Amino acid sequence: MNAKASGVPAITFEMHPSERRLPEDVRANLLKSPGFGQVFTEHMITLRWSEKLGWHDGKLEPYGPLTLDPSAAVLHYAQEIFEGLKAYRQESGPIVAFRPYANAARFRRSAVRMAMPELPDEAFVQAIELLVTQDRDWVPANADQSLYLRPLMIATTPALGVSKPADSYLFTLIASPSSGIFSGGVRPVRVWLAEGFSRAAPGGTGEAKTGGNYAASFAGQRQALDHGCDQVVWLDAVSHRWVEEMGGMNLCFVYGSGKDARLMTPALTGTLLPGITRDSLLTLAPDLGIPASEGAISLDQWQAGCESGEITEVFACGTAAAITPVGEVRSSHGGWTIGDGQPGPVTMRLREQLLGIQFGRVPDPHGWIHKIL
Ligand code: PLP
Ligand code: COI
Repeated sequence: MNAKASGVPAITFEMHPSERRLPEDVRANLLKSPGFGQVFTEHMITLRWSEKLGWHDGKLEPYGPLTLDPSAAVLHYAQEIFEGLKAYRQESGPIVAFRPYANAARFRRSAVRMAMPELPDEAFVQAIELLVTQDRDWVPANADQSLYLRPLMIATTPALGVSKPADSYLFTLIASPSSGIFSGGVRPVRVWLAEGFSRAAPGGTGEAKTGGNYAASFAGQRQALDHGCDQVVWLDAVSHRWVEEMGGMNLCFVYGSGKDARLMTPALTGTLLPGITRDSLLTLAPDLGIPASEGAISLDQWQAGCESGEITEVFACGTAAAITPVGEVRSSHGGWTIGDGQPGPVTMRLREQLLGIQFGRVPDPHGWIHKIL
């Protein structure tokens, strides 16, 4: 569905595009090897909310710094939410987004949890359509690169009281031409068990996409890096036994192999992020004849399963990570290898299918592709 065709009155965005465009050769150079989230396009969207005016003052404007009062609530109390999704330049020409309405719905759920105003889905998708259309030249044409879209909302009320949530907010959308989050193509990552820290507790904000969850994860991530690992695996905060997710992606476990392979991903307990990639794989795997379920796996079961050969592959999934094999687990008291430590066939098949749909190489039977241009 096109945002403009939904019947909901569109929020107006004034167009103030940049008068000076970046020369084509400079842009082409930046697009050669953009990394993840380091290069940004020439424009952004802003939209404000206040109790009195609701959503107002929508603008597309040149990318640039935001001005905030130093007393703005977000700077003190971290009332903030964000999203992550991608626009792809498909091989036959169109520029599309993958399941933007699913991100819009999760953005609303995060807003409710953080006592922030809900942005209508149509406005969320409209903002994406406007920015991608304006900055279409920034959608990479290189294989396996895409335009990462980062919508966010912050509390701007200049007041230090904590007796109620802020009463004014700023929505912003920026875009970043990106390669995968892990450098080096499809390389198996090494993960670290952060047993001394917790990311999210029951009743907390683990299932909301809010900056504080990531702030709380960085001490563990630092530990991971110090031990030669790429990412932290978070365990449940109560027993430190059950595997939940990673710092910026969900986890999937493959049991068995060949025609007996099946997929399992930890169930949504309220403390992990309901990933849209994860959700897509719960549908895509059965499409490929691989049964998929939500379940639970303890650390001990993970290790024993790899040692016995019952667990054959493990991979991370998320917008930024796409599907990334996990090759090895490390902790302060040892570790283990998954399979032979190399990308497994189920991981690679699912990766090819998902990227195939996103880049238009294979049919999109579930209507996940949202055409923008
Ligand atoms: N878990 C966390 C903590 C994340 O930050 C992400 C990334 O967005 C995911 C899981 C995967 O979610 P999605 O597939 O919607 O990108
Ligand atoms: C995403 O995959 O969109 C994420 O948000 C992961 C991350 C870089 C925080």
